[in-house]
Amino acid sequence: MRWFGRASSEPLWKEEFSVRTADERYVTRRQLTKFLVLTSLGMFVGNVWIFIRSLFYRAPAYPRQTVAKLGEIAVGQVKLFTYPAPDDHCILVRTGENQYVSYSQKCTHLSCAVYYSQSNDRLECPCHQGFFSIKDGSVLQGPPSRPLPRVILEADGEYLVATEVKA
Ligand code: FES
Repeated sequence: MRWFGRASSEPLWKEEFSVRTADERYVTRRQLTKFLVLTSLGMFVGNVWIFIRSLFYRAPAYPRQTVAKLGEIAVGQVKLFTYPAPDDHCILVRTGENQYVSYSQKCTHLSCAVYYSQSNDRLECPCHQGFFSIKDGSVLQGPPSRPLPRVILEADGEYLVATEVKA
């Protein structure tokens, strides 16, 4: 191609554009150092922010909530309720004359609802055969790696009151 009035054979835009193609991939030591320093600084600031937030973190305060009347359910029977939020489903099991236990009903594997198997005396998740101990919510079998969160109960007069959830 011929360019009138100019000695160079390169197109005008290439002459005016100051970056040389051969230099585009070349990263100087100074540029690399600048990138590493800025990235490290960003990570440092992020970690300081997380640390400061952890200093001021307060565990959520759980409400006291009546979940059942004592003797309302027979031994071996269950009652479902929600605690502490309306979408946190829990299961209450009467395991003895004066014994009650309660857990989150959400399986710690993939969140299916667990149910109480009276014949096996354990909590069972039907999705992947995850079984939990009724005594402490620990995993007996299956893919779940964590125990069920336990709802702490307190007798208050003739009522059972949920006071806290312990993971
Ligand atoms: S969701 Fe409960 S075992 Fe998988």
